[in-house]
Amino acid sequence: MTITPLNKDSILHAIEAFSTEMPINLHVLTEIDSTNQFLKQRPPSALIEVCCAETQTLGRGRRGNTWHSPYGENIYLSIRWKIPVATLLLSAMGLVVSLAILDAIHLIAPDVYIKWPNDLIWNMKKLSGILVEMITTVSGCQEVIIGVGLNVSTSASCEAWCSLYDITGKHYDRNKLIAHILISLNSHLNQFFQQGFGVFQARWQAADYLYQRAISLTQAHQTFNGIAQGVTTQGLLRLVDNAGIHHMFSSGDIHITAIDGQPRP
Ligand code: BTN
Repeated sequence: MTITPLNKDSILHAIEAFSTEMPINLHVLTEIDSTNQFLKQRPPSALIEVCCAETQTLGRGRRGNTWHSPYGENIYLSIRWKIPVATLLLSAMGLVVSLAILDAIHLIAPDVYIKWPNDLIWNMKKLSGILVEMITTVSGCQEVIIGVGLNVSTSASCEAWCSLYDITGKHYDRNKLIAHILISLNSHLNQFFQQGFGVFQARWQAADYLYQRAISLTQAHQTFNGIAQGVTTQGLLRLVDNAGIHHMFSSGDIHITAIDGQPRP
């Protein structure tokens, strides 16, 4: 496999080629503990702070998991974004981020779906994960750090994971992919902060991996079993439990309990 190294100029030129105005301060690193952690420690900035790295020594996943980050093979990318004060729909933001990534890779990998809230799934395997962390800066500004892990070239060593290489049999220039993702995130998040999640609901639901599937959702010490019924205009997951009671969730750990109905490949 020939690896094209990450390159700051290549990423910036690819963004310019789309004639997108995106005021970013881009940090391209060889090795870092975690790109999310790096951005947390950056001083306040008028620009969108972005960091990507060839490898992470302490890559973090959701629920305290480790994010395996082999050198040069995948995308480990974080973006620090200022949140408009009036935003009440933060739980929906991760859903919009997942849609932005899906849209950025759609031409390469059309059969990818989103498992609520924001995992990208192909053929029942995880392709990408997102870690959204809130910070309050010294000036009292609310900011969010969006961490994106996208498997590009690492070939699946177990049944739970996959990469773009596993899907297409091809290797991709990560610089171009990162540029696509940043452009897509910029337009999706600007629209989200102006108009909310409602404008994304239909498109998100078209990619909903869980729709009509039997799932269990665990929150703290409680588990709900039922059928997933899509998302609300606020991005909450709808679930009808086995007693017919309707629920809505803004968070939870999900497992598919039966593959009956097969709504998705
Ligand atoms: C998940 O568990 O699904 C979320 C994984 C998020 C991984 C990315 S890689 C770039 C950024 N830096 C981190 O330490 N984590 C996120």
